[in-house]
Amino acid sequence: MPAISFQSVSKTYPPSRQQRAQGKQGLRAVDEVSFQIEPGEFFGLLGPNGAGKTTLISMLAGLSRPTAGAISVHGFDVQRDYAEARRQLGVVPQELVFDPFFNVRESLRIQSGYFGIKNNEPWIDELLQSLGLADKATANMRQLSGGMKRRVLVAQALVHKPPVIVLDEPTAGVDVELRQTLWQFVARLNKQGSTVLLTTHYLEEAEALCSRIAMLKQGRVIALDRTSELLKSAASNVLRFKTDAMLPWAIAQHARITGRIVQLPAQNAHEVEQLLAAIREAGVAVEDVEMRKADLEDVFIDLMAGEQTPLEVAR
Ligand SMILES: Nc1ncnc2c1ncn2[C@@H]1O[C@H](COP(=O)(O)OP(=O)(O)OP(=O)(O)O)[C@@H](O)[C@H]1O
Ligand SMILES: [Mg+2]
Repeated sequence: MPAISFQSVSKTYPPSRQQRAQGKQGLRAVDEVSFQIEPGEFFGLLGPNGAGKTTLISMLAGLSRPTAGAISVHGFDVQRDYAEARRQLGVVPQELVFDPFFNVRESLRIQSGYFGIKNNEPWIDELLQSLGLADKATANMRQLSGGMKRRVLVAQALVHKPPVIVLDEPTAGVDVELRQTLWQFVARLNKQGSTVLLTTHYLEEAEALCSRIAMLKQGRVIALDRTSELLKSAASNVLRFKTDAMLPWAIAQHARITGRIVQLPAQNAHEVEQLLAAIREAGVAVEDVEMRKADLEDVFIDLMAGEQTPLEVAR
């Protein structure tokens, strides 16, 4: 039985009053999504802003209702068997929501109580320790920095030892040290058997951690495969250089440009030569030229640039 199952799941947000007045219809944020995650998998859900990742996760967590389709967690239907399905899940939400009246330890105790767990102190201590919160246990939630609040959200999600862990951009706004601590901790839980569903915009994290990845674009799954297979699908090499000049459009449209740094996909040495010749011909001066292997970000950009699906509007 899969740990998580999405069957033809769609979600249409109704138009606001203003949108309706303008004759606009609803937004189909999730469109016929079907896939399954097996127990013990470390699964990545990737996609640009607004692709529908959080919408999918909030339906999985039972916080919002699908317009169509069914979702289950270890066989428990999220609508019909809400309490059981919810108990299987530890969800770290993208938004920082917390109760400002309690300190860190109290909020973890309350969360334990919510799941009917008594004498949870040893596990709470371990969570505080593992997430670098031990010295903040008695701090009020209001006194914590943004990154620390996110750590508490992670601890809250894990307080009932859920078999399925769902992380919606857990490392947004989090420093390098905590990112490493967090990934070590989550990887350990995964090794011990927990299923992990992760969304992130840090593609190198997804590449390093996830064994399978689904890519979402405008509410639809446009790619779903083992990470190693996705990596194979990209051009195998990337030509990287710096320049102050404008590139000709024919080249620029394939490039990943970050300030002065330009990166261009290339299959082989011949293509690299062709690219360099075209750049020279255009009179563009380049420096620090180097080659590297294609990574998940290259695959992502490639896939997102491809097949333009127009924003689907609900009927
Ligand atoms: N409550 C809502 N009412 C109306 N539209 C919404 C609502 N929540 C989200 N949307 C819209 O649904 C689409 C998908 O949003 P969603 O938050 O699921 O994207 P996302 O993939 O999580 O993006 P991000 O990477 O920015 O977190 C967006 O176009 C968004 O504007
Ligand atoms: Mg989101």
